[in-house]
Amino acid sequence: MTNSLIPIIPVADMQTAEKAVKTVGENALHWMQQSKFNAEPFAYCLIPDSDGNIAAVLVGVNPESPIQALAGLPKVLPSADYHLQCELDEHWQQQAHLGWQLGSYRFERYLRPKKNWPRLHGHDSSTTMVDLQVTASNMARDLINTPTEDMGPDHLQQATEQVASQFDAEFSVIIGAELEADFPAIHAVGRGSHRAPRLLRLSWGEKSHPKIALIGKGVCFDTGGLNLKSASGMRKMKKDMGGAAHALALTQLIMASKLPVQLELYLPTVENAVDANAYRPGDVVSTRQGLSVEIGNTDAEGRVILADALTLACEHQPELMIDFATLTGAARVALGTDLPALFSNNAELRQELHICGDEVEDPMWPLPLYQPYMRLIDSDIADLCNNASSSFGGAITAALFLQQFTNKDIPWCHLDTYGWNDSKRPGRPLGGEAMGLRAVFRMLQNRYGG
Ligand code: BES
Ligand code: MN
Ligand code: ZN
Repeated sequence: MTNSLIPIIPVADMQTAEKAVKTVGENALHWMQQSKFNAEPFAYCLIPDSDGNIAAVLVGVNPESPIQALAGLPKVLPSADYHLQCELDEHWQQQAHLGWQLGSYRFERYLRPKKNWPRLHGHDSSTTMVDLQVTASNMARDLINTPTEDMGPDHLQQATEQVASQFDAEFSVIIGAELEADFPAIHAVGRGSHRAPRLLRLSWGEKSHPKIALIGKGVCFDTGGLNLKSASGMRKMKKDMGGAAHALALTQLIMASKLPVQLELYLPTVENAVDANAYRPGDVVSTRQGLSVEIGNTDAEGRVILADALTLACEHQPELMIDFATLTGAARVALGTDLPALFSNNAELRQELHICGDEVEDPMWPLPLYQPYMRLIDSDIADLCNNASSSFGGAITAALFLQQFTNKDIPWCHLDTYGWNDSKRPGRPLGGEAMGLRAVFRMLQNRYGG
């Protein structure tokens, strides 16, 4: 089989490239030089044999970034059968395969499927972990990319139920008016939509295993509510359930890899709609925890629904809590689109996640839960205000708001993630993207994987 496969040869510099290309034939070196191949990351060169067929592919790589090594190739190589030819260790090759797979994604729901992708063969030993991670990332991407008309609260519920049934997990939902008494904040934000708000729950795993909770912001569309967003501000807001997409995809990854934990997933799911019945600026909303919240701005809706979900999660006393949310534009101002902002009430956890992110090329960056900024979210008529009196430090004030609904004795981290690629880059297709998913999984594997 291997004979009919075209080798892909990663090279970190021109010396290696010259050595590799000489084994293909004398003319090959000349061809490579003529093509101005420079071995920079993502540069590639098709090397022909004497019949004009592709004999090999050279690709420039940074050996420190195996996941990026092949990530650009699936979208540029001709449809054919390839294999990776290199002397780097098994782990490196496995990560390179992961990158190839992540780079093969296309959102095809509304397109005719493209049939002829290039195929990368070989690598059987640890395929499963690679495949499971790709499946999870692509699940998050698909959920985010699907337009709200086809990904409302009801659809997100179906997606969650499907994941639950696949792994014999327990699923339950509290919906519409049923939320009013015990989850008043979720109800307030979601009541304006013709599609009922809900709190989705999934639990899985043996009771004897350590309990962890995942929470995700499920705003299926964020118009801003009565504090309506501008046209450009609203354009991508189908992605505002990105936190829920991450938490659900991570749930599926944890279950598929049989991590020995007891998992609780909480997805507060709403549409932040404009409606005669919508919640208003100036309203005071009560929360499950008891704190009252003055609504300074209906567009700061994510923290309001997350408040009730975090409270419920804490009631079950997990030993670790992680929330994902497309929470603030301010996190993007601080760190740009690629880096989720990482907040934690536990320094060890924060540091570990930061390191894990670098290790698996899924980086994030810590920001502080700087307590003095609590003054920015106080209210004259309620316990808290949902928007800060200053927009400076907006990612921090949002995270501080969430912290009021957590328990200081339960290690908690909050990822304010963009969940989206604004432009296409190798391995990072335009549109929905999993950011922080593999990093968190790595941390969980470290802690619970044995
Ligand atoms: N979903 C948005 C945050 C967002 C906007 C994330 C753009 C990614 C890209 C969130 O609900 C929101 O509107 N936040 C406001 C908060 C403000 C009103 C205090 C924001 O960031 O402007
Ligand atoms: Mn908003
Ligand atoms: Zn939002």
